[in-house]
Amino acid sequence: MYNFDELITRRGTNSLKWDSAGHADVLPMWVADMDFRTAPVLIEALRRRVEHGIFGYTQVPPTYYEAVAAWFARRHGWNLQPEWIMYTSGVVPALSAIIKALTVPGDKVIAQTPVYNCFFSSIRNNGCELLANPLRRENDTYRMDFDDLERKAADPRAKLLLLCNPHNPAGRVWTREELTRLNDICLRHGVRVVADEIHCELVFSGHTYTPFASVSTECLNNSITCVSPSKAFNIAGLQIASIISSDADIRARIERAININEVCDVNPFGVIATEAAYSAEGEEWLLQLIAYLEENDRAFHAFCAEHLPQFPLTRLEGTYLEWMDCTALHLSSEKMEHVLLEKAQLWLNAGTMYGSEGEGYMRWNIACPRSRMLEGLERFAEFLQK
Ligand SMILES: Cc1ncc(COP(=O)(O)O)c(C=O)c1O
Repeated sequence: MYNFDELITRRGTNSLKWDSAGHADVLPMWVADMDFRTAPVLIEALRRRVEHGIFGYTQVPPTYYEAVAAWFARRHGWNLQPEWIMYTSGVVPALSAIIKALTVPGDKVIAQTPVYNCFFSSIRNNGCELLANPLRRENDTYRMDFDDLERKAADPRAKLLLLCNPHNPAGRVWTREELTRLNDICLRHGVRVVADEIHCELVFSGHTYTPFASVSTECLNNSITCVSPSKAFNIAGLQIASIISSDADIRARIERAININEVCDVNPFGVIATEAAYSAEGEEWLLQLIAYLEENDRAFHAFCAEHLPQFPLTRLEGTYLEWMDCTALHLSSEKMEHVLLEKAQLWLNAGTMYGSEGEGYMRWNIACPRSRMLEGLERFAEFLQK
């Protein structure tokens, strides 16, 4: 059994999450990385590499592509060919290169808001325009608005849709039916789907992650997928991601954009960590992590039901990001972020970071030891009492 309860000090390690808070008392529950040590199988593999002591330029070996393909086939039922895979230094660099490759400035890119903030910057930085297809809130969950999507996709300048599956911050793990319907609409209007599936390993029981490209041949042919073990194995700092497309012409265009953006080199640690993550021991650790996160989610919801009933939560089907409706406070999300940081030493993400649909919401990262998560909730509750 792995011990996810261990409180590990991250302050003083140049951690973005912990060390960019000015105040030493701040409890950071914002940016999406975890306060858990990664799987021992990764640490061992990295240790062996460190001990070699030479860290020159890296080539990505065939075993990398085979490990990615075998993992997705075994764990997620997607039989992809190793030659469909390209690598780059992260999912955001991947999204940016794909947009550059498949649009011209002035084109429109659809995103289902509220959504991961770097979708906005990667669209904007490539000279494209965001076409929002806002998700519809229904009780404690979100649904896709297919009627609105039909209208947005019909815009002749709409070229791509950035899909977030599972969705950050809406907590949805999209079903096969939803993905099929989305692709039917996109296909009808010549919109290609870019599936950001970085959160795909973090799915709770009762829900199944369906790789978009595995839904049908139509979905495969109309999509490009981005994945990385970085979220699930807590190795975002090692900077590696895979881009998967079955279309050789599309791959050549993306490869060219990766070169233009000069993000064609990865480091030795990312490659080694990916291979170790996508192993049987990596999988065993991951299963225990998911069980722990699921228990955190349960404890989070139980605490809120008892002490914070005026702040409705979104049901989490996957990821470790709670999405809380704080409209009862009558403050803007940005103001809440500042006030919580100043008065409660609690650092959450303002919902508006994910688009205007997030106004009044706050995002909590619960990928930490349960005692630390509960301390965050206590700070929030005490702040309200004052
Ligand atoms: C949906 C999504 N995509 C991409 C990323 C970041 O990817 P990377 O660190 O590989 O650039 C995140 C990080 O939170 C995310 O939530």
